[in-house]
Amino acid sequence: MKRLVCANWKMYKVKSDVKSFFERWERYEMIDKEIVFFPQFPLLEFVKSFLTKGEKLGGQNCSDKKEGAFTGEVSPYLLKDCGCDYVLIGHSERRHIFLEKNEIMGGKILNAINAGLKPLYCVGEKLEEREAGKTIEVIFNQLDALKGLENVEFDIAYEPVWAIGTGKVAKKEDASFVHTKIKEFLSKNDFKKEIRVLYGGSVKKENARELLSADNIDGLLVGGASLDPEEFYRIATSI
Ligand code: 13P
Repeated sequence: MKRLVCANWKMYKVKSDVKSFFERWERYEMIDKEIVFFPQFPLLEFVKSFLTKGEKLGGQNCSDKKEGAFTGEVSPYLLKDCGCDYVLIGHSERRHIFLEKNEIMGGKILNAINAGLKPLYCVGEKLEEREAGKTIEVIFNQLDALKGLENVEFDIAYEPVWAIGTGKVAKKEDASFVHTKIKEFLSKNDFKKEIRVLYGGSVKKENARELLSADNIDGLLVGGASLDPEEFYRIATSI
């Protein structure tokens, strides 16, 4: 299975930034990896116009409904229509800033799958949960949203909330431990497809190689460091 290295551009970049990113983005044959860019919605088709083989596009979120009177929501069917292959679901900023409940995640994932997208489902514990020894309990609760989806194709990103945008990266052993637990959960619950488990949270060119050297870390979801083409290139080619 190819490793997956993702750029989550969050609410950054306008068109001129995208243009200068791709002017400086080094092209290389993605033989052993998939690269996915997750820009803001109005930039999707613009970003798509710069992508070459092996580079894919994803939305940062989607609705659990196909269409309807839901102002401000985005349908995964439109994401597909705009050239997306992937969609992030349950990113910690959606969960904790915009208060999206775990109960709606399963519906979003199913809707995305039905639209022909591959969801990248994000899970992760807050600092106080980690300090209270509840990391695995929290992650398993978030994974419960996947019940009934044992036969569908998706990937998972483990992003400890305390590591996102803080400069505090999880140690390889700590990330690897959680990844093992996630994989145990999937095999115990009879998930049929091969599911990649990515790590995210303060990934930089300095720590990417170390993280990817763990055999159960199947890729990276990169925020801040993906905004710069040279840095993101170094991360994507670190292993
Ligand atoms: P940072 O890499 O900026 O910590 O963000 C991680 C993240 O949230 C990616 O989805």
